[in-house]
Amino acid sequence: LAKIEVEMATIPEGKNVIVKWRGKPVFIRHRTADEIEEARGVEIKSLRDPESDEARTKKPEWLVMLGVCTHLGCVPIGESGDYGGWFCPCHGSHYDISGRIRKGPAPLNLEVPEHDFNEADGKIII
Ligand code: FES
Repeated sequence: LAKIEVEMATIPEGKNVIVKWRGKPVFIRHRTADEIEEARGVEIKSLRDPESDEARTKKPEWLVMLGVCTHLGCVPIGESGDYGGWFCPCHGSHYDISGRIRKGPAPLNLEVPEHDFNEADGKIII
């Protein structure tokens, strides 16, 4: 199946990009040290879909996930919502800076697709 490559150098720290993969939006965020600390400081047991930030990222500074709300499939908006991550305007789901559902009707965290890093080429491969 088709893969895409994204040059890491084109995404500054603290920025999101959206790329298209297999007809779906994929969100890539280059997280800051503060964001990583925030994501890793959350009590896992308190989450609706308990998942550690470590399990969702291969490299802490790069968060890669499908931009498809797990409620009914709208595309959430970045840098918004009550948890510093994404907000889905369709019915009000709030995701945190790890893409985990924190408030609203969505049942699950934003899905992390298979991805890898090619350090030599400075690319993320999805
Ligand atoms: Fe996102 Fe309903 S589709 S909250």
